[in-house]
This record gives sequence, structure tokens and C-alpha cells, in this order.
Amino acid sequence: GIVPVVLSGGTGTRLWPLSRESYPKQLLALAGAETLLQQTLARVAGQPGFAAPVVIANAEHRFVIAEQARQAGIADVTIVLEPVGRNTAPAAAVAALMAMADDPDALILIMPADHVVQDPAAFRAAVETGAAAAAAGRLVLFGMRPDKPATGYGYIRRGDPLPGLAGIDAVAAFVEKPDQPTAERYLASGDYLWNSGIFLLPAAAFIAELDRHAPDVLAAARGALEGAVRDLDFLRLAEAPFAAGPSISIDYAVMEKTDKAAVVPSEFGWSDVGSWSALWEIGTRDADDNLCVGDVVALETRGSYLRGEGRLVAALGVENLVVVATPDVVLVTRRDSDQKVSQLVAALKKDG
Ligand code: GDD
Ligand code: MG
Repeated sequence: GIVPVVLSGGTGTRLWPLSRESYPKQLLALAGAETLLQQTLARVAGQPGFAAPVVIANAEHRFVIAEQARQAGIADVTIVLEPVGRNTAPAAAVAALMAMADDPDALILIMPADHVVQDPAAFRAAVETGAAAAAAGRLVLFGMRPDKPATGYGYIRRGDPLPGLAGIDAVAAFVEKPDQPTAERYLASGDYLWNSGIFLLPAAAFIAELDRHAPDVLAAARGALEGAVRDLDFLRLAEAPFAAGPSISIDYAVMEKTDKAAVVPSEFGWSDVGSWSALWEIGTRDADDNLCVGDVVALETRGSYLRGEGRLVAALGVENLVVVATPDVVLVTRRDSDQKVSQLVAALKKDG
């Protein structure tokens, strides 16, 4: 079956102060009772057509991840540990090499650990659609209809439908994180889809593309696997070769360069829950358009995301705010400017 590979190495700074380096957003229950990592695993684990999942994460998070998988009832999971984060291309390369060692025809499904998918059945159906193209050697993307000129996404220009493969188009171009004017142009043209960040890859063809476009990434992944050691239930990648490799995302390293990409235009209630306002948008709001989580009282307050963890948030007569209180930090910002929370975190780091 398809090998699900969950990437859980990011830090999610825009969801500060809840999301921290020691406890990033994918390990938090941000949208529902389960954590985003648990929801991601549950989307595929035990489903027909899927093999046991692999999680690739920072070594520091190993016990939390193992515990969350166990709690979600997922017994059979391989947890691969990175000594340092090198972005998504090296992690995907490691996963492809591992899968190929087991089965030269393996397909791997790379999934970010920090996305919401509201319709898991539609998601699995899209993967099944893409599997025909992946089996034919295509690197398969899942394209989402864009509704704003976001600059934090990859943009896919749709090509012609692939002959004999229903529901799959060629990729005419891939542009990762365009600047604002370019994103506006792409949105207006109607020719582009957002890259969901989920990839269905034939391991062998992906490795061949890495060899062509990012050989240093492939070399680092190979070295890290050759020197890898078992540690309890974990597979610990060798630090020196992995750290010596470049830090680069799969989007820049391969997707912008390959001519083997294909896209499944999809709708499965996808959301990259990158910010508090994104959680407000996808969540179930009350009659005053507020989304309240934890200890909150709100009066004459509208359009706000209010979250009280370990202390009470009391709001009166305010609109369109984000207020997130944790035991040591209270974040207050406007709902339309919370994309910049990562800048705030960067400034804090600089101040020490
Ligand atoms: N194991 C591991 N190691 N995982 C990582 C690392 C790493 O060093 N860095 C990031 N990740 C994980 C993150 O936790 C996340 O789940 C996923 O890989 C994607 O990384 P992001 O850093 O969140 O990427 P992005 O959001 O900027 O961009 C990607 O996703 C967009 C959609 O949300 C790209 O694929 C874009 O093209 C895409 O539109
Ligand atoms: Mg992301």
C-alpha cells in the first residue's frame, strides 16, 4: 500500500504563544479534541490501501509523538528522528529511500502534520485518483482553489489533462511563495491552484528527480540513513551527514524544477491552520461571530478569537480581535494582522 509519511518538524510561530519550539502547533489540539498530528495520522492509518505510517520529526519531540500516536490507537508507526531541522526536502528524501529499500515501486504520501482536512473520505479519494499518475512516474500534487493572493503558498499553473488519467492535469509551472503582485496576478488569471503541501510520490522517480535537481540533498539523506541507529522504537538519523546537507524545502528543491509533476485539483476541506485568524475562519463560531476556547467570557464582543488557557479571558465591547492567554503570555492583536505574529516572535528572540 501507499506509505504515509507525516512531516512534523516545523515550529508554527504564527500560533505563538501556544505554539512553541518545545511544543509546536502540530502537537496541540487546536481544532477539535485531538492534536493536528493525531488527526493527520487518523486520516490514513488503518485505511484500505495504506501501509503503516512513518513520522519524521525533530528528535526533541520523540516521546510526545510516540505518546500521541499510542493515544490515537496507532500502534504500528515508524518514528524517524532528525538531529536538526533541514526543512522538508531532506526529510522527504529519507522517506523515499526507506520506502524504496522495502519496495522499488513504493508510493509515498507526504503529509504536513499541521493541516486540517474536514473531509477525510474526499481526501483519500483524491489520493486514490492521484495514485494512477504516481504509479506512472508522476510527482503528484493536490491543488486547492485559491481565494486570496496569499504569499505563503506554492502556486501551480494547470496544464492540459493527462491522457488516460481522469481528474489529473499536467503541471505547466510551479512557483513557491510568489511576491504579492505576482500572487495577485495569479489569482486574477484563474489559471493557478494553491499547492496543498501534500505530495504523492513514486519513491524511485522522486529519488531520480532529487539526483537531478538536488543531489546534495540526496547525498545528505543517504549518509544520514547509512549511519542511522535504532534507539528504543525510534530510528535516529546520523547527525554529521544530515546536518552537513542543505536546508531546503521540497518545493524549491524539486517541485519548481521537475517536469514530472501532475496535479489533482481537489476539494477536501483543506486548511493550513497557519494563524489564529485561520482557526477562527474554519471553526464553529457563536451567534456573535466569536470563537471562544477555554476560559472565556465575552460581552458585546464580535468577530473575535478568544482563548483562555490557565486563566480567564474577559472581553467587553471589542471587535475583530485575537486574544490568546496562556499562563505566561497574553497575546492581543487584530484578527487582520495576526499573520505578523511570527515577526513578533522573531523580535522577542532577538531581545533574548
Ligand atoms: N521533519 C521535518 N523536518 N518536517 C518539517 C521540517 C523539517 O525540518 N520543516 C518543516 N516541516 C514540516 C512542517 O511541520 C509542516 O508540517 C510541513 O513540513 C511543511 O512545512 P512548512 O514550513 O509549514 O511549509 P510552508 O507552509 O511554508 O509551505 C508548504 O506548505 C504550503 C501549504 O500549506 C509548501 O509546500 C507550499 O508550497 C504549500 O503551499
Ligand atoms: Mg505550513
